[in-house]
Amino acid sequence: MSKRFTITAALPYTNGPLHIGHLAGVYVPADIYARYMRLKGHDVAFICGSDEHGVPITIKAKKEGVSPQDIVDHFNSNIKSSFKDFGISFDNYSRTSAKIHHETASDFFTNLHAKGEFIEETNAQLYDSKAAQFLADRFVIGTCPKCGNEESYGDQCEACGTSHNATDLLNPKSAITGVTPSLKETKHWFLPLDKHELFLKEWILDGHKSDWKPNVYGQCKSWIDDGLRPRAVTRDLDWGIPVPVKGAEGKVLYVWFDAPIGYISSTKEWAKRQGKDWEPYWKDNKTTLVHFIGKDNIVFHCIIFPAMLKAEGSYILPTNVPANEFLNLEGQKLSTSKNWAVWLPDYLKEFPDKQDVLRYVLTATAPETKDNDFTWKDFQARNNNELVAIFGNFINRVMVLTSKYYNGMAPTPQNFSSEDIAVLKLMKSYPVTISNSIERYRFREASQEFMNLARLGNKFLADSEPWKVIKTDPDRVQTIMYVALQIAAALAVLSEPLLPMSSQKLKTMLNLDLISWKDVESGDPMINPSHEIGKPELLFAKIEDTEIDFQLEKLAQSKLANETANKKIESQKEIISFEDFSKLDIRVGTVLAAKKMPKTKKLLVLQVDTGVDVRTIVSGIADSFTAEEVIGKRVTVLINLAPRNLRGVESQGMILMTETADGKLVFVNPDTSHNAANGLKIS
Ligand code: 2FM
Ligand code: ZN
Repeated sequence: MSKRFTITAALPYTNGPLHIGHLAGVYVPADIYARYMRLKGHDVAFICGSDEHGVPITIKAKKEGVSPQDIVDHFNSNIKSSFKDFGISFDNYSRTSAKIHHETASDFFTNLHAKGEFIEETNAQLYDSKAAQFLADRFVIGTCPKCGNEESYGDQCEACGTSHNATDLLNPKSAITGVTPSLKETKHWFLPLDKHELFLKEWILDGHKSDWKPNVYGQCKSWIDDGLRPRAVTRDLDWGIPVPVKGAEGKVLYVWFDAPIGYISSTKEWAKRQGKDWEPYWKDNKTTLVHFIGKDNIVFHCIIFPAMLKAEGSYILPTNVPANEFLNLEGQKLSTSKNWAVWLPDYLKEFPDKQDVLRYVLTATAPETKDNDFTWKDFQARNNNELVAIFGNFINRVMVLTSKYYNGMAPTPQNFSSEDIAVLKLMKSYPVTISNSIERYRFREASQEFMNLARLGNKFLADSEPWKVIKTDPDRVQTIMYVALQIAAALAVLSEPLLPMSSQKLKTMLNLDLISWKDVESGDPMINPSHEIGKPELLFAKIEDTEIDFQLEKLAQSKLANETANKKIESQKEIISFEDFSKLDIRVGTVLAAKKMPKTKKLLVLQVDTGVDVRTIVSGIADSFTAEEVIGKRVTVLINLAPRNLRGVESQGMILMTETADGKLVFVNPDTSHNAANGLKIS
């Protein structure tokens, strides 16, 4: 029976491009789910849009000396293109700056206000007197009262996920000027979450214990158990939707009040375009509403937004909120500010036809139950060993052999062997297995089941060896290839949610446009004798080591740039007199010979021509150089340092060194471009 689904994906903030964490955590799973539900014949509204308000956008605009509107216009189109490029099949992608959204969010607020669902309160809020601004949300950083993270934001701690009020932070500092804020009275409107506690308890803790993911349920339980408190839903800011009531001049709606309403306004925009009624998608309790989000959004989608919807009274509540955990990159947390990310626009430039590969890898390693790691080596291995060697290889064999033996016309099967029957029966079970996984939001499992079907096809061909049997029993090969073609057709359909571009390519190759999930489920033949298939083409190509090395090198550069930026410059030592300095006798020299000091890790014994003499200097540089590398190096030497005995060798001076950002020692080289002779004094 066809059902109605409203599927939402978190509205991304428009203050930067998308990276793999966004795709893995939210958009690929949401897209798999939406595509699958459409394939099953359901009525789907897959909704998203740009989240264009909020403090991070104003901070970025300030930093770049442009207006917040410039920032959101730029990233709205950047993000929209990335979604299109990766085949994220939204039915509508709107913006929270759209007129329809401003109206919808304002009306929502006005309605709750009229119903007396807010508390109006004047109280002390954090204020930055230097910037002449109240400090809400990301404008203030301080210590999280729950977990002690020293870099918690005013509205949320990213370390423990707690959502709090800015005044709860310990040791708050302004993110604009760095000053410690003072307290200043201001009026705000609060949503009394405590009033909705009982309903939330019953709805989530009693009602969704078994069907919501444990990570989502667990977070909700911990907030509810801690006790819910009123939350301010207005802010003293100049970027956002004006608060539509008297006495709120200069105030805007809190971004997390307006953003989820963005799902509703985006649905309205879509319905209008389609000539449909938007209301059943949000108000009919037969509609399944599913929010796809990352774990940092759980409180807003499971507690605050449902409380708003409940207070309004005419809306349905989400059936599920299958939030993912976080994706790390090469063992480290993804970070925009540290440029520790794989940006989608960059990926597309570097792997222009490999969108499905990234979708596949991110699904196969999705952080569904715990944080997970993306590594480039794993990306390469999954492409080469799974997509190329299993799925691609099977399809290529089927296409090539059908072209070669039957000129591209599907053969007529003869007698089915017991193996053929077993394989066809197993094939028929895959749509059910994959459906079960997708419907329980286990996309990782679905991707592996899909690959198991391709494995089955490969094994069937390897076991039945049509390329050998053709010489002795061509009738048998007709049946083998007929069975293999049915598996290829099943793969073409079942790959659609996960690998939409490859699925389309495969359907075109197999000349199969009107084939559905139901056809695979039925077990009826999908490719009949004499059906003409197209030309064989490769579905996937191998990824070479050089391509992976390039990506790893890019990350190494980011790391280095970060280390350099974060390197603490030591403060200046105490002043010395000129006389003190002139006591130092520093000369240009050359290393003539070097050997490792036995039984030490760090010491090299050098023979250095100082111009004055050739002397022995023991230098602690063996971590950074081999003995061979330093022979012939021009160096700067302090020659009148009192000799020191190091491991039985007298060291008669010191070679001047400095250190790079990554801790490697380098020589302070004299400028030898004018053939500076050994012994020249440095003064
Ligand atoms: O975390 C984020 O990127 C938010 N912009 C998500 C908003 S989801 C929704 F409620 F709009
Ligand atoms: Zn915390």
